[in-house]
Amino acid sequence: MASIQDKDTWSGRFAEPVAELVKRYTASVGFDHKLAMFDIQGSLAHARMLAACGIIDGQDFSDIQRGLAQIENEILSGEFNWSLDLEDVHLNIEKRLTTLVGDAGKRLHTGRSRNDQVATDVRLYLRSAIDELLELIKALQLALLDLAGQHTHTIMPGFTHLQVAQPVSFAHHLMAYFEMLKRDAERLRDARRRVNRLPLGAAALAGTSYPIKREMVAELLGFDEVCANSLDAVSDRDFAIEFTACASLIMTHLSRFSEELILWMSPRFGFIDIADRFCTGSSIMPQKKNPDVPELVRGKTGRVNGHLVALLTLMKGQPLAYNKDNQEDKEPLFDTVDTLTQTLRIYADMIAGIKVKPEAMRNAALQGYATATDLADYLVKKGLPFRDAHEAVALAVRFAEQRGCDLSDIPLAELQQFSTLIGDDVYQVLSLEGSLASRNHTGGTAPNQVEGAIARARNSL
Ligand code: ARG
Repeated sequence: MASIQDKDTWSGRFAEPVAELVKRYTASVGFDHKLAMFDIQGSLAHARMLAACGIIDGQDFSDIQRGLAQIENEILSGEFNWSLDLEDVHLNIEKRLTTLVGDAGKRLHTGRSRNDQVATDVRLYLRSAIDELLELIKALQLALLDLAGQHTHTIMPGFTHLQVAQPVSFAHHLMAYFEMLKRDAERLRDARRRVNRLPLGAAALAGTSYPIKREMVAELLGFDEVCANSLDAVSDRDFAIEFTACASLIMTHLSRFSEELILWMSPRFGFIDIADRFCTGSSIMPQKKNPDVPELVRGKTGRVNGHLVALLTLMKGQPLAYNKDNQEDKEPLFDTVDTLTQTLRIYADMIAGIKVKPEAMRNAALQGYATATDLADYLVKKGLPFRDAHEAVALAVRFAEQRGCDLSDIPLAELQQFSTLIGDDVYQVLSLEGSLASRNHTGGTAPNQVEGAIARARNSL
């Protein structure tokens, strides 16, 4: 059933009302009401500037202020009546303002279009989301540092190809994720600079004939600068794509971490236990404790990556300037922010609740000849060329494998079959502790190096 389109917006131009189905199809108020507080903030700054420039008078400005304050209360208390007939958050608020304060409400839209208005709202929303996300990243980094600080001497196997490679400390492994998050925060801060530019003043696409002061609005809203080209200002969504790319990377990092947590919690590894409050049981298998949270983080990474592709695809065919396509930017962006926010929040808590099982880690490091490289390096230091040392150790590993023992279990006389350079100081080299301690340079796994890295990381926060 068709109903009468709101007369105040544009129906004077139209001979028949918008079809009900079309109204539902084109309306965005169902999701863009999330922008309401930013819309009000933007409108207040715009109105203040209009008054300062003599485009509206002081009475109009104070009426607008009063009306918007009431609307803000109505929205926050859940009393505001959102109407699909009014299409989006902008028209809903403007219409209510006019109901409340009359002509002043109708003057608010002077020198402005929903095109620059919505672009401004989304930027304000995203800027505040980024600021919150940066805090959440920091909280997760702190949780990592706390855990790492307790485990600079906890030895686990480091893997390549998921095969035991060389011993590392659990702290060193955790600090790898700290580094990823550090880059993630850097990227977000950098993206924020491009989010924090003001589109208002671009109006529909070409600017406006009123004597506006865009710089004043920018300053009132805390934008670093104004968008330099009006066509670009209303059509640009690079900032949303960039942000979502940052979010995809953060999720990708947490997905990798999750994959490790899941493996580590499997009884085959048994390196850690995740607190019960992050796990669920099985409805059929009574023994199960499933790492649901890390599994869902891994799963939700697909969802955020999907949003990135959605936004890129949204923009790729659009001619300048604003097109209604842009309305589709909101749901992927909002969902990216929500998913990432919840994920980071839950992750910091989960990391803080991890129970580490150092014995299981150590036992795993003792299997798989994790110190074979150390033996090769030992021979090199005694004068053997590296390739020859590599071969000698390969033979020793094969010998140990046939015996079903570790390199450190082979008596000295037998080890000397592989090289006469081997002396009884070799057992220090073959120990996990010796291996760790020897990687004593910036970025290495030696306990004192990792302690230094943790201290520097803490200072950097
Ligand atoms: N709801 C619209 C959006 O999200 C607001 C801008 C509408 N502009 C227009 N010319 N129809 O993009």
